[in-house]
Amino acid sequence: MADIQANFMDSQANGFWVVEMEVNGKSKVAGLLAAVKSDGWDTDAGNAPSLEVFQLVVSFSQRRKGLGTQLVETAVEFCKEQGLSRVIVEISSPQTTAISLFCKLGFIVTSVNSNTHANHLVSKLARINVIRMEKHL
Ligand SMILES: CC(C)(COP(=O)(O)OP(=O)(O)OC[C@H]1O[C@@H](n2cnc3c(N)ncnc32)[C@H](O)[C@@H]1OP(=O)(O)O)[C@@H](O)C(=O)NCCC(=O)NCCS
Repeated sequence: MADIQANFMDSQANGFWVVEMEVNGKSKVAGLLAAVKSDGWDTDAGNAPSLEVFQLVVSFSQRRKGLGTQLVETAVEFCKEQGLSRVIVEISSPQTTAISLFCKLGFIVTSVNSNTHANHLVSKLARINVIRMEKHL
């Protein structure tokens, strides 16, 4: 994520979208979504290239106004334009808001596992899982 230019903008297959808002005459970032082309995730559906939503966040003050939905819908459209057949996302189980959002947009849960990036013991004690969701286009 650190080098946005190199990791997202220099590759046509990747996407980085920012929602900007004008607040008191100043431009503020209200939300962003970053997505990368993934060449192969082993799933039951095969190993077709897909678009992976890598980062999605909407600022606290702008939540529940449809921005998250618009960002994900934009990524789905981009995925179609790129000729890719599915969008995938991994969400940790406490992120219930994000899970609701992706469900609402037609994503389905394809796997649940306990291999989180966070400290393994903490995740295990807190029963945090990684939920993979996919939308086939
Ligand atoms: C997840 C997130 C991006 C949603 O953004 P948002 O702009 O508030 O989402 P939307 O307004 O488009 O909401 C779409 C749907 O998500 C669900 N949702 C959003 N906020 C919710 C809340 N507080 N409680 C329950 N469901 C919620 C609802 O299903 C909602 O549809 P509805 O308003 O018709 O009921 C935002 O909450 C966020 O940045 N969370 C922290 C980061 C995160 O979890 N990122 C996802 C990692 S992949």
